[in-house]
Amino acid sequence: MATNVLIVDYSWSGTTAKMAALLQRVTGGTAVDLTVTAGTFPSDMFATADTASQQLASGQLPALTNALPDLRSFDTVLVGGPVWGGTVATPVRRFLAQLPGFSGTVAPFYTDAGTPGNYEADFASLVPTAKVAAGIGLTAGELPTAEAALTTWWTHLA
Ligand SMILES: Cc1cc2nc3c(=O)[nH]c(=O)nc-3n(C[C@H](O)[C@H](O)[C@H](O)COP(=O)(O)O)c2cc1C
Repeated sequence: MATNVLIVDYSWSGTTAKMAALLQRVTGGTAVDLTVTAGTFPSDMFATADTASQQLASGQLPALTNALPDLRSFDTVLVGGPVWGGTVATPVRRFLAQLPGFSGTVAPFYTDAGTPGNYEADFASLVPTAKVAAGIGLTAGELPTAEAALTTWWTHLA
């Protein structure tokens, strides 16, 4: 069983944050909700998709405004985010860009509306140095009854 787990998530509209809160309860870990500068994303979903596409095309990932704990004090980092355009949301990519040098286990958790696309494969390709474990994805509708599934996932991972 991993002793020290950090749970980070970016959530544009609150669903992944709920999943992160459940995982915090299941794992007993330290949880951090990632935030970006106010105004980085519009309030409209389609406009946000356009902004994210531009960020991906330019490589200019949004800055995170959180103070993050020292990753070296954790064995495992669970990284959560929404599926955007079948792939990893840009604030999550920004967090993953800070991971080089982390040698523990990283696992993705994510929420989507039913079409996760290439999320897990893309996530793994963005984490070159750490061991990447199989992730777990849920829809908002699955969340209220997901604690058992999250516990099983964590038990196999830890
Ligand atoms: C910009 C954007 C792109 C999205 N792209 C997808 C997608 O490709 N597939 C999918 O199933 N859901 C997609 N969604 C829906 C979200 O993944 C889903 O609502 C998720 O649970 C939202 O999590 P959040 O509340 O933590 O932001 C998208 C939502 C947004 C805002």
